[in-house]
Amino acid sequence: MKASTSLLLSLPCFAAAAAVQQAKVSYDGYKVFRVAVGDEVAKVNGIVEKLGLTTWKGAPRANAMADIVVPPAQLEAFNAEIGDMQSITMHEDLGASIAEESNFGVYAAAASVNSTWFSSYHAYSDHLQFLKDLAAQYSGNAEVVTSGKSLQGNSITGIHIYGSSGKGVKPAIVLHGTVHAREWIGTMVVEYFAYTLLSNYSSSTEIKGFVDKHDFYIFPVVNPDGFLYTQSNDRLWRKNRQSTSGSTCLGHDINRNWPYMWSVPGGASTDPCAQDFKGSAQGDAPETAALSSYLKSLKAAQGLKLFIDYHSYSQLFMTPYGYSCTAVASKNTELQALAKGAVAAIKAVHGVTFDYGPICSTIYQATGSSVDYVNDVVGSDYTFTSELRDTGNYGFLLPANQIVPSGEEAFAGFRYLLLNMK
Ligand SMILES: *[C@@H]1O[C@H](CO)[C@@H](O)[C@H](O)[C@H]1NC(C)=O
Ligand SMILES: *[C@@H]1O[C@H](CO)[C@@H](O)[C@H](O)[C@H]1NC(C)=O
Ligand SMILES: [Zn+2]
Repeated sequence: MKASTSLLLSLPCFAAAAAVQQAKVSYDGYKVFRVAVGDEVAKVNGIVEKLGLTTWKGAPRANAMADIVVPPAQLEAFNAEIGDMQSITMHEDLGASIAEESNFGVYAAAASVNSTWFSSYHAYSDHLQFLKDLAAQYSGNAEVVTSGKSLQGNSITGIHIYGSSGKGVKPAIVLHGTVHAREWIGTMVVEYFAYTLLSNYSSSTEIKGFVDKHDFYIFPVVNPDGFLYTQSNDRLWRKNRQSTSGSTCLGHDINRNWPYMWSVPGGASTDPCAQDFKGSAQGDAPETAALSSYLKSLKAAQGLKLFIDYHSYSQLFMTPYGYSCTAVASKNTELQALAKGAVAAIKAVHGVTFDYGPICSTIYQATGSSVDYVNDVVGSDYTFTSELRDTGNYGFLLPANQIVPSGEEAFAGFRYLLLNMK
């Protein structure tokens, strides 16, 4: 008995050593807790640091919820430290939640693209096929476009939707999804917008009006390298896959890298190992450079009416600025009125509450974000960013049966903007 036990124990180590290159990060047995921080910021931060834990929404903040990932080996210590602080369990077994979510639908180059797509999450290659199939099905109103290449040479692929005037004529509306690789719902939601615009163009005068009046450029995955990595190696990867000299850690946070107010202190990390590492220099992520030149060329050619960057999670609809809590966007009054209307429209669909306001005062200070850059440097008429569902039951692992409701409510917010922007 003894011999066989030790043989069993030694096997996994062997397997792990052999597979070190491709090892998929396992979250089996990990738990995710949502802790009410209250006024105990120092205590919660201290626990996170002492036990070397990761959090899902940045550093714990006063009177906010901290969503904390705890490996099995730290569970006892975590529970002892947290004591009787108020908390709920978001994931009893994070590995099991990931396995359930990764039950992708089979997508075989459908003869006819349909809403079945939105009943599950999908492999990256299927997203590319879906965009091709969608553009082919509505070829009078759509084409596949790319806005440059990622670090690893993947095309940043999107769909361009246009109306009766033909392509490239009307003011542009640009939507980005999943710049943070693990925020999968953003991809599905902006694809839902594309599908809704195209599939209703011929039957809805309202939708036809939207599409005839604008050119939509919808990019479901603006961080393809990171997204691929979430599907091959680590579901919770956030950044791109860029190296930094002097560090063994990979990844620059593309949404802390945009070359505007990048060096303002406090809104991003200078640690290459951090989730929100700003990069070694502003704009040094190839994705940032590609996306920014694409936005500038659209602005020069057609004008840029609206830009929205979709993230998850927290249920927010936000305006510039991220870099400062005192700087006020020139159109702030109008932006707040639009954001207020958008969240009311979102709530009217399924009763889900989104908060709104400038990024810095609504969520936290963030430098080098797309919103500040697009608002001030590119010069979009209207600029927003949204954090989609939820507020902390599932976090990044939003169950697939919430894709359609998320798309429906987010589209209602988008529709409100389309009807009310000047
Ligand atoms: C809908 O699309 C799926 C693929 O996503 C396909 O299997 C199915 O046959 C399609 N249904 C119809 C009615 O076209
Ligand atoms: C699009 O068409 C579908 C199917 O007819 C309908 O259920 C949906 O409400 C329409 N969406 C919009 C935004 O018009
Ligand atoms: Zn994000």
